[in-house]
Amino acid sequence: MQQDITTLTWEAFEALPLREKAPYLMQDDGMPFHTLFAQQFGRPLLERLCDLATKIRRVAKRREGALFLASLLSHKRAMLYFSQPSSRTFLSHLSACEILGMRTGSVRDASTSSELKGESQEDSVRTFSSYFDLVIMRSPARGLAERMAWVLGNSERNIPIINAGSGKDQHPTQALLDVYTLVRSFETQGGIDGKTVVFVGDLLRGRTVRSLAYLLTRFRDVRQIFVAPRELQIKDDILEMLRRRGVAYEVSHDLRRWLPEADAVYMTRIQDEWDTASGESARIDTSAFKLGPDEAALMRPSAAILHPLPRRDEISTALDRDPRAKYWRQMRNGMWIRAALIAATFGKAAEIDAYYADHPKP
Ligand code: NCD
Repeated sequence: MQQDITTLTWEAFEALPLREKAPYLMQDDGMPFHTLFAQQFGRPLLERLCDLATKIRRVAKRREGALFLASLLSHKRAMLYFSQPSSRTFLSHLSACEILGMRTGSVRDASTSSELKGESQEDSVRTFSSYFDLVIMRSPARGLAERMAWVLGNSERNIPIINAGSGKDQHPTQALLDVYTLVRSFETQGGIDGKTVVFVGDLLRGRTVRSLAYLLTRFRDVRQIFVAPRELQIKDDILEMLRRRGVAYEVSHDLRRWLPEADAVYMTRIQDEWDTASGESARIDTSAFKLGPDEAALMRPSAAILHPLPRRDEISTALDRDPRAKYWRQMRNGMWIRAALIAATFGKAAEIDAYYADHPKP
């Protein structure tokens, strides 16, 4: 049962552990209303969304299918509110909205919004809710999307919020597309269960790794290996969560040691925009945390290479044509699973199932 957020003060809501926040964010049919953090997604929901993404992807291949999809939410409008740089996550959500026929508006630069006149972000989002039916937001501030969900829940126009990246903390829709990419990559290898995933790079400040580490615990016997320079290693809260759930993990700085055992290698860039002192990241030796042809030669032929992108030099472009490189497909998967999430948020999953069942598949 969806719990009523208006029964809690902001302080009481904020203080809840994430798993206790989740029931306030889900709908009675088990689909998310707000998508704020990875802990909202259990395995049945992940499988449902991956299945729906595949149906949307296949239906969209035919003109009539694309027209059907574009009719589903043609009466709804989405606001993309991105107060932090983004190209793919912005375009991916925009494309997902368009697939479903939504009209969209966007603010991408606080200097063109009334925030410059001193308006609070709370008031900005309440303003959006007057014109739109969904807010997709990215922000450098941790927890802002949660605050907005609470604010809207206590207003007359409670509309869904999708967190498209919050601070160094969470990026739940990226984790969804990462899971979808792993599901597709391991389709003929028994799925994600039992696999070893090696995370590499800036694990301290990479929010995508944190969200994916949570989602991978929804699968059986997935081993998680964190390979990073000491200064950029994954935070203890994630390791503590893995211990609590009995998930096998290793913390290492030796990429070559783990590559031969990896089913998936998840590369990340150094997130130096978070440096507190200038040049802080540049002083860290990251040379051993890159993937080129020599490193790839150590990997299994069936392994998958993922990256949330943008990349710098941590994956050599020489690997782009390697069949194990999944990062371009990963981006496209993002559009499909975000379309699935938005459709499900608006109660359209069953209509897509029915259309899919009744029409020829390409
Ligand atoms: C990531 C992000 O913004 O956290 N990018 C993305 O959404 N694909 C990763 C990054 O910026 O390194």
